[in-house]
Amino acid sequence: MEIVIEWKIIHFDVLESTNGKALELAHKGAEEGIVVLADSQTAGRGRFGRKWYSPPGQGLFFSAILHPPFTDRRLFVLPLGAGCAVAAALKSVTGLAPRLKWPNDVLIGEKKVSGILIETSQVSGRFAAVIGIGININNTDFPEEISQTATSILLECKREVSSSALLDICLHELSDRYEHFISGRSEKIVREAREISSLLGRQVRIPTSGGEFHGNVVDLDETGALVVRLRDGAVRAFTTGEVQLVREASDDNDSGLGR
Ligand code: BTN
Repeated sequence: MEIVIEWKIIHFDVLESTNGKALELAHKGAEEGIVVLADSQTAGRGRFGRKWYSPPGQGLFFSAILHPPFTDRRLFVLPLGAGCAVAAALKSVTGLAPRLKWPNDVLIGEKKVSGILIETSQVSGRFAAVIGIGININNTDFPEEISQTATSILLECKREVSSSALLDICLHELSDRYEHFISGRSEKIVREAREISSLLGRQVRIPTSGGEFHGNVVDLDETGALVVRLRDGAVRAFTTGEVQLVREASDDNDSGLGR
């Protein structure tokens, strides 16, 4: 598969947030392929205004600048593509079978090993998407609020992996999905996301500004939206939101918190 992006890594010891720095560079006209990498972050940010725990020596924290050629609904697939890329990289490094919790949390078992935050900017008519990726590598413990729901490669594999090797593989896998995305083959990404989905067939709760929805996940549609059969039988496609798993009788280890 042809690699379309030439990555250029800019390395920092510490940053508030690699996404923040990447957005700043994008505003100044940074080219596609710039990757901001930090050994630690003092204000790593996550989805829904949360923080991303980013201590030194424990994880991989980086943000890649892309300039997608379109800004419409086709962009919905980008988070899935990034999640699939990280899941594939983790699979090749660990031999495990990570799964994707829609849209882009990467889980090992039921626990989260990686999170992705995509932020966009438009400056002088030029659109940029910053793909911020955090992967827990060497953590053996976590802050109280995520201690039941987060995991690391070390905890799952009982061995150390090289963060620079993992970064290279992540970028390679990201190029691969991005190539599908920009060349109109997003169905490949959706197919992969379906195959590794942790949510298909599961009972979920989805809080939205318009109320909370409960139902059973039945599919990912061709745009990457999560298709849920609601309790009243109606079928609804969600394009955003934080999906929480509802504890089922058969779940032994599910915290039900969805993080
Ligand atoms: C989430 O799961 O809520 C998304 C977490 C994203 C964390 C990464 S770490 C590198 C990049 N820089 C940030 O500030 N956030 C992302």
